[in-house]
Amino acid sequence: MKIIRKINTLRRLIKKVKQDKKTIGFVPTMGALHEGHLKLIQQARKENDFVVVSIFVNPTQFGPKEDFKKYPRNLKQDAFLCRKEGVDVIFYPDIKQMYPEGFKTYVKVNDLSNLLCGRFRPGHFRGVTTVVTKLFNIVNPDLAYFGQKDAQQAIIIKRMVLDLNIPIKIKVIPIVRDKDGLALSSRNVYLNPQERKDAVILYQSLRLAKKMVKAGILETKKIIKKIKQLIHTKKTARIQYISIVDLENLKPISRIKDKGLLAMAVYIGDTRLIDNTILKNPKA
Ligand code: PAF
Repeated sequence: MKIIRKINTLRRLIKKVKQDKKTIGFVPTMGALHEGHLKLIQQARKENDFVVVSIFVNPTQFGPKEDFKKYPRNLKQDAFLCRKEGVDVIFYPDIKQMYPEGFKTYVKVNDLSNLLCGRFRPGHFRGVTTVVTKLFNIVNPDLAYFGQKDAQQAIIIKRMVLDLNIPIKIKVIPIVRDKDGLALSSRNVYLNPQERKDAVILYQSLRLAKKMVKAGILETKKIIKKIKQLIHTKKTARIQYISIVDLENLKPISRIKDKGLLAMAVYIGDTRLIDNTILKNPKA
């Protein structure tokens, strides 16, 4: 496995891989890899001849008061895990490579970027779509892998790829959870032991919502009210938003006719966690 820091070095290697008619699978990450990332890598490994993982903590997707500086970074451990999974290349650029002086060009998916998490993290998705476009242009993969944990991100990237005719197939891989149900996230390391215990309330609230839908309760207002009550039983929890939205346009729906995306952001202590599930009307 190679760790490549320079864009031109990676481009030369990719050119050769393409000449050899090999397919390229790409997993963009910000490092601090956990089992959720490994699932993406394993899928990429299964489906491609050559696997590239990028590790880049992208400054443009963090707000001024967010955790860019303290975001966990551990290249040694990440490289160990990638090697174990049979990754061919880790692309590990520095900020100057990705954002050279005078950088002025951004990619933004309108509307979708301003909803759900976008309402509370202005500029976040613009940062994501900009860096992902750049990475796509550098790595030039056939397939790229994203986690369902960041459901809105995956929906926005699919839209972008469609709108900009980017010839890459986007694969979305299911959420990986700890034994108690907490969705794996690099930010879980911020939780203290009490908060870690309380954090499972997000998953429990998703399960409650699923149970309600199964029992025929399809009005989203009722579902949201109930799960808010459940989350409020934890002292460390502060809800930022809970919404049930259309899976394509991310606009709130009043009733689950067929399917809806239940998405939430909840602070546990000072740590902002997100989670989601797809609610399906059993009678649809
Ligand atoms: O999901 C992430 O880790 C990041 O948003 C991504 C896609 C690597 C872009 O920086």
